[in-house]
Amino acid sequence: MRLRLLSSSAALLLLLLSPAGAEDRREMVAMPEEAQHRLLQGMHDHMSAFASILSYIANEHFESAARLAETQLPIGPMDPETEQDMLAYLPSAMLDGRSSLKEAGKRLAVTARRAAAEHSYYRMRKVAGAVADVQAACAMCHAHYRIR
Ligand code: HEC
Repeated sequence: MRLRLLSSSAALLLLLLSPAGAEDRREMVAMPEEAQHRLLQGMHDHMSAFASILSYIANEHFESAARLAETQLPIGPMDPETEQDMLAYLPSAMLDGRSSLKEAGKRLAVTARRAAAEHSYYRMRKVAGAVADVQAACAMCHAHYRIR
């Protein structure tokens, strides 16, 4: 876990340090416009789900945070058929990235429920760690892939 976090921080740092206009090293994943649109729409849903999760945690609404984390990360399927069409264009390493996000979302749900049952500094630290892992899963994929 720590290693994964370290490597994603390093990847982010590299991305941030690269001079403007430097070569984009992310792998280009080609797909038709319709699939691109679906993927980006899904990303916007990720963004708002993650914002809601953080807000629920800040307000100690742990069950609501847990429910969103386990159902919306990765985003709950649009129409499953459309989702399958979009997923078919993703390389397997990108699908692995999606699975990492799913796993991180599930772990966040578990830690949030534990924090609901036991209000303690220790439990909140576990929640914070799980939030960081979710964010790391987003960042890892963004550091490696682009679709346009
Ligand atoms: C499996 C890979 C993957 C994961 C995991 C992932 N993303 Fe993305 N995301 C992408 C790709 C690819 C793009 C498009 C990048 C490009 O070509 O501009 C993107 C773009 C975005 C955008 C920009 C949308 C736009 O209209 O420009 C947002 C916002 C975003 N992601 C949020 C998130 C958040 C929040 C998470 C985690 C909760 C997340 N993503 C996890 C692959 C991923």
